[in-house]
Amino acid sequence: MVTKYREINTESRIAIDADKLIVGKRLPFDVFVKDRGIIKHLFNKGMLFTNISKEVLKEKGISEVYISSNENFSIDNYLSATADKKTSPYDDPTLFKQYSFYKDKHHQIDKSLLLPGTKINFSLFVLESFNMKTVVEASEKSPALITESILNTTGDFLIKKSDIPLYHDYINSLLKEKAVSGKSNVKAIAIKENSKIVIKDLLDDPRSGEKIKESKLLVNNMIDCMLENRDSIYNLLTLRGYDYYTYTHSVNVCVLSIGLGVAIDLKKDDIEKLGIGAMLHDVGKSAVPHEILNKQGKLDDVEYRIMRNHVIEGEKILRTHKEIPEESFIPLLQHHEKLTGKGYPFKLSGDEIKLFGRITAIADCYDALTTQRPYKPAFTPFYALSIVAKETGDYDPDLLKTFIKMLGKIK
Ligand SMILES: [Fe+2]
Ligand SMILES: [Fe+2]
Repeated sequence: MVTKYREINTESRIAIDADKLIVGKRLPFDVFVKDRGIIKHLFNKGMLFTNISKEVLKEKGISEVYISSNENFSIDNYLSATADKKTSPYDDPTLFKQYSFYKDKHHQIDKSLLLPGTKINFSLFVLESFNMKTVVEASEKSPALITESILNTTGDFLIKKSDIPLYHDYINSLLKEKAVSGKSNVKAIAIKENSKIVIKDLLDDPRSGEKIKESKLLVNNMIDCMLENRDSIYNLLTLRGYDYYTYTHSVNVCVLSIGLGVAIDLKKDDIEKLGIGAMLHDVGKSAVPHEILNKQGKLDDVEYRIMRNHVIEGEKILRTHKEIPEESFIPLLQHHEKLTGKGYPFKLSGDEIKLFGRITAIADCYDALTTQRPYKPAFTPFYALSIVAKETGDYDPDLLKTFIKMLGKIK
């Protein structure tokens, strides 16, 4: 799933002047740049090219970018075009409602656990660009075989919410097979998938003590996995999702925070407290209405206030769970604070923001940038790191350096 940067043959790409990219227009191609001699993927196809994107190029001293020469579009048409009138192609409320409905009734899974030749007794769907389609129908009575062609389908793989227990059984049966369970990546992905299920349940029922206990256990499993092998972070992360899911985001922020905690040599006991807080950092979103959470475009003032209140709501929920250590409240309370004092809800600055708050703030921002939202495509990890790094002053510079080093291998 994750590899080191590959040297790509630049001959199969066309070089164009960076200043030819049109501000205010979506890119009809993936954009690559040469960074210290290595070709890196900088902008995703479909991304709105903005002034910030332009600034990042300028700051990096990039005057030439590369696009694939076999892309199915006319470069001349693009270069002679002007900015798009509509900044979002998703302005159809009916389509959007339909999409929100589907999303709530389904659960996103990592297809890398679906092994060719195994049988599943739950149906699979994919969601891509607001379209949901059935990939394979299956049930307990008529199971389906996983084939390569199923796995080649692009988009987010989803299952029905009601089939989650069957998926859970599928994962457990995989782990019982010696040939499969011995592989550390399978173990790591299984931990991630189980964590997503638990967090999804917890967001539906945030006062469940049993789910809190389960999430603590899974955080411990993640830490063991990462202490054993630091590269397992890549299997624990969900990379390049096609859409945003609060449960996937929670698990990603937890994995990234633990990774950073391991990288700066925190004690295991502290990493546990950090991890549980990071896993639960957005639990207050369970109190935010779906229409606001899934809204396309900008939130109005009232909606924004409700959204920001997820921090305080989250604290209220966590206080009902006596077994949560006090230090685990820090990631939840401080993940939107910025060193410059421009964050929320307390507008803390400098030393007022504790280490756990600083760590989760970086993890949260990075994951938000690399995730697609209804109103914006995902940024590539490389571009996201450039943006986070650009926000100088908002994030802890030393932690940021370690974070960039830690994720430097992501393509
Ligand atoms: Fe948040
Ligand atoms: Fe978050």
